[in-house]
Amino acid sequence: MQNRPVDVDALEAAAAATLPPHVYDYFRATAGGPEVAVRSTSAWSAFLHRPHVLQDTERIDTSTTVLGTPVATPVLVAPMAQQVAADPLGERATAAAAASVGSLIGISTNTAVPFAEVAAAGAPWWFQLYIFKDRPISEQLVDRAVEHGASAIILTVDITGLRHPSPEANYAVDPTEWPPSPGADRLVNLDADLRERARGEGGWFARDFGFRAIEWLRERTGLPVVVKGVLRGDDARRAVDAGAAAVLVSTHGARAFATSVPSARALAEVADAVGADVEVYVDSGLRSGIDVATALALGARAVFLGRPVMWGLATGGEAGVRHVLETVHQELVTAMDLLGAPTLADLTRDLVVPA
Ligand code: FNR
Repeated sequence: MQNRPVDVDALEAAAAATLPPHVYDYFRATAGGPEVAVRSTSAWSAFLHRPHVLQDTERIDTSTTVLGTPVATPVLVAPMAQQVAADPLGERATAAAAASVGSLIGISTNTAVPFAEVAAAGAPWWFQLYIFKDRPISEQLVDRAVEHGASAIILTVDITGLRHPSPEANYAVDPTEWPPSPGADRLVNLDADLRERARGEGGWFARDFGFRAIEWLRERTGLPVVVKGVLRGDDARRAVDAGAAAVLVSTHGARAFATSVPSARALAEVADAVGADVEVYVDSGLRSGIDVATALALGARAVFLGRPVMWGLATGGEAGVRHVLETVHQELVTAMDLLGAPTLADLTRDLVVPA
């Protein structure tokens, strides 16, 4: 492993230079202008650290479990659509990289890779679900995910299909405009008739399912349900009361609602609301191992990386993703050493203060 922080901005610039402009635009897009992306990432720098000294950090242990699945690192891979537009192997490469570093990957509803091929890469994986207006689409997707060994369902609840109009949020929401990348495809895990139905009105996201969807999913799949896109303590509590095994604090990488609070600001409230027995994860704007250490100290059990992984995939395929995951992980190890926190359990709230 290299002991050099990954320069995500440089990686993004390299990805921008190799990707077709409309694909880069889709990956980079937020729900608003450039200031929205800046708010998402800079919120993690709004904390400073209060390191311990004279701790025994001879051995740093980053291993943990997420919903019972052992992982060597708390740096996990967020579900992202259209990875085949970054690299022809798409999630096959991303999952192989995750497997090689002992991480876990979320697989998007809109993946263009068959679940069997994702599973063959050997990483533990969670299936990310959007609930479509046409419910049989979602039902078949989760049934197939279970068949192919997904070990949890991530239910994304922050994108409803409605967008605050912004000229700069220029990526397709209307499913009939998909895929953003010519030649790329999506929903390949559905039978042909349901794929066809997804191209019409039925492929729009439902907005009427409410908290009861959690119990429905749990019963149908027999898997734990992670609710993704929670930014408030009261909603997190309701999700858990409704059967969620975990919550993922997320702004969808600032793609859902331009003026929502950044994940870094919402995390502690959510962690406090659900209590120590419920696993809380976070994504959006994390760019370094120091950000990861901050997130874990604020109450996250693990974090998900989105765009840094996509830039790695676009510039170097599987090796590019591995480089991103390894360098962020190694930076976390260094941060733990400097914080006097040899295990993830030692990353406690008292280590951070507002900057
Ligand atoms: C996403 N994200 C996402 N989330 C989800 O639940 N289902 C999806 O299909 C997608 N697709 C997707 C595509 C692209 C190109 C991006 C950048 C993001 C959101 C993703 O899971 C995660 O929440 C954010 O990417 C995390 O923020 P950062 O790390 O990108 O800042």
